[in-house]
Amino acid sequence: MRIVVTGREGQVVRSLVERGKGGAFEIVPLGRPDLDLAGSGDAMVSAIESARPDIVVSAAAYTQVDKAEHDRELAYAINEVGPRTIAQAAHRLGVPLIHLSTDYVFDGNKHSPYVETDVTGPTSVYGESKLAGEQAVLAQHENSAVLRTAWVYSPFGANFVKTMLRLARDRDEVEVVADQRGNPSSALDIADGILVVAANMVGDDNSDQRGIFHMTSNGEASWAEFAEAIFEASAEVGGPAVRVKHIRTADYPTAARRPPNSRLDSGKLFRIHGVRLPNWRASTKDVVERVVRMTDQES
Ligand SMILES: NC(=O)c1ccc[n+]([C@@H]2O[C@H](COP(=O)([O-])OP(=O)(O)OC[C@H]3O[C@@H](n4cnc5c(N)ncnc54)[C@H](OP(=O)(O)O)[C@@H]3O)[C@@H](O)[C@H]2O)c1
Repeated sequence: MRIVVTGREGQVVRSLVERGKGGAFEIVPLGRPDLDLAGSGDAMVSAIESARPDIVVSAAAYTQVDKAEHDRELAYAINEVGPRTIAQAAHRLGVPLIHLSTDYVFDGNKHSPYVETDVTGPTSVYGESKLAGEQAVLAQHENSAVLRTAWVYSPFGANFVKTMLRLARDRDEVEVVADQRGNPSSALDIADGILVVAANMVGDDNSDQRGIFHMTSNGEASWAEFAEAIFEASAEVGGPAVRVKHIRTADYPTAARRPPNSRLDSGKLFRIHGVRLPNWRASTKDVVERVVRMTDQES
């Protein structure tokens, strides 16, 4: 099965390439300059068509949450207009589409994990543009599954795990927000989940398998608890580990407002697609070990 995925160096793209190796899937990353989500629609459609997908995974996005507050036009171009065109291309080809989205479509004021039918209410330009992207994709192409994930980390690119380990190399303590809760999700686990959903969708046109799904790791944490787990795992393999000072969101002002409750309920994904991602602590350990080893090799 040929899976064409948008982007090249993104965490989820690289995880799909790694997890797809040697299996029944051929993963074809398609990114700039061949496919630019902010570029011409015709060029995007022809790039997708030339790649001859059995299914398309739309993983590329404008993901700089704070920068998006001052870069609205480009965030919408990449997160809404581009995915709409990708959905049109998949529709023309008659192939299914998996589109990735985010917990930031919610305002975070609910007191329990969000389900797919909960009312959305993004509090940032990034969240608004991703919500617009979900709606555009579903309106263009019924044969689509939107997978909302959250707090993504991996051995690739820039993410919270790598930031924490970098900061710990030259200080004794890091201050980390303790009043936002979510589900830290490994991009490698997300990739495994996407491969199952892709196989289900290619093999079956059941409409239950289409629509919106939440796909995050099992278990929850605050950013501060996540940081503590990172340093615990790092210490076990001789990597950097420092104290974590719990602070409030109000003590760490950012351009974009983050939801205090980012927790997603991924039960529907298990019921319909049979996918349940592992507990975040085990996956954090694996990723931290890889990052510590990579950093040791580089120095
Ligand atoms: N990161 C998170 O914490 C998080 C949380 C919730 C949801 N998500 C969603 O999950 C998906 C994957 O996220 P990620 O963490 O893998 O993202 P990432 O590591 O930030 O990578 C972003 C990807 O988008 C590509 N891209 C950006 N602008 C583009 C453009 N104009 N044309 C083509 N490609 C472009 C990048 O291209 P290059 O390969 O050229 O760099 C890269 O491959 C996204 O839809 C994101 O919104 C992420």
